[in-house]
Amino acid sequence: MKLIGPFKQIIPMTGLPPKGALADNQLVIVEDGGILIEGDLIKTVGSFDALTKAALPDNTEIIELHGDHTCLPGFVDAHTHICFAGSRANDYALRNSGKTYLEIAKAGGGIWDTVTQTRKASKESLIKGIVKRAKRHLTNGVTTIEVKSGYGLSVHEELKMLYAIKAADALLPVDLIATCLAAHMVPKDFKGSAADYLKQMAEELLPALKVEKLTNRIDAFIEEGAFSPSLIAPYFDKAKALGFDITVHADQFSTGGSQVALKYNALSADHLEASTDVEIGLLAQSPIIATALPGASIGLGCAFAPARKLLDAGGAVAIASDHNPGSAPMGDLLTQAAILGTFEKLSNAEVLAGITTRAAAALKLTDRGQLQSGCLADIGIFHTGDYKEILYNQGNFKPCMVWKKGELVYNKH
Ligand code: NIG
Ligand code: FE
Repeated sequence: MKLIGPFKQIIPMTGLPPKGALADNQLVIVEDGGILIEGDLIKTVGSFDALTKAALPDNTEIIELHGDHTCLPGFVDAHTHICFAGSRANDYALRNSGKTYLEIAKAGGGIWDTVTQTRKASKESLIKGIVKRAKRHLTNGVTTIEVKSGYGLSVHEELKMLYAIKAADALLPVDLIATCLAAHMVPKDFKGSAADYLKQMAEELLPALKVEKLTNRIDAFIEEGAFSPSLIAPYFDKAKALGFDITVHADQFSTGGSQVALKYNALSADHLEASTDVEIGLLAQSPIIATALPGASIGLGCAFAPARKLLDAGGAVAIASDHNPGSAPMGDLLTQAAILGTFEKLSNAEVLAGITTRAAAALKLTDRGQLQSGCLADIGIFHTGDYKEILYNQGNFKPCMVWKKGELVYNKH
């Protein structure tokens, strides 16, 4: 066993309602606490003093912290595209000189540019890219990362990406949760209609994902220039019939996607920058997690998702980085979550729940996002005595230690 502490504050993120607005005084704060770990799980969260005096096995390792420290559950980044090759610095420059995301995409840049680069890359070089990016996320306190395919756009190339994600997962302490985003756009070299493309993916790719156990999650980009709600229906029908969980890139530039998420009981509807009061009301009344992606708003210079309105209407808001080469190249969840908080007037509790418990719910994971007995010992430790310092520093204040499944995986000390 291992005992870590004392912490000036442990913020276990326990006992919070899964949906709706949260005030900071709803946060449980364990003062002068310790965390007892057995294997990869948390055994006890409680008073450090009491834990040191308890009858612990002789070989218990005590990791004693000096100075003020505060800890939180390891962060969960529930939406990324960190499996890619190449750069879209050129798109970024074009956008900042006045071209829109959709105009650039139509002119041959955008997602297709990354597809071209990613297809040229070997599986090994994709693995290297994922590992490099995931390791940086880990130093920022992120211990679980969802990673989408979607830059392959053929049966073979989508499988290559998903095998790369699986291989990178095996090399990393961070957990990578793969999602198939073959429905990202119709590949420009596909001979046939959008419906034909989705039919081929439904018939050939979806069953292969099951056989190869590559993912249980299917995503689609519902948007002009990508897929309409009616086009996606047969594909999602097939995915549902095979037992996949659904998630949707919804309402990024225009509405339609969140209605698809509702129709298919998606785990999450992500983006939502263009959602109106109608979509906000419907999502808030549903069990769907509304995932805000402030990194895409910052990368594209667009409005943020209406997180405040979603929470006030009773919705569950998660916050993810959307780390991708096009719309969200920064890939710093903590910075982005803090910035979303200032623009959307979110409490500390709402932002922190958005990158812990509510983000874990978006991935249907019940074993993380909270520090309590039986949960994974995924812990981010910050050198402060006051948890409010973390978001106040707007991402400039990173963890000094990160533990994943009971192992120290990052130590700045
Ligand atoms: O979530 N919106 C669609 N997909 C990604 C962007 C991917 C890209 O531009 O490469 C997103 O923003
Ligand atoms: Fe995305």
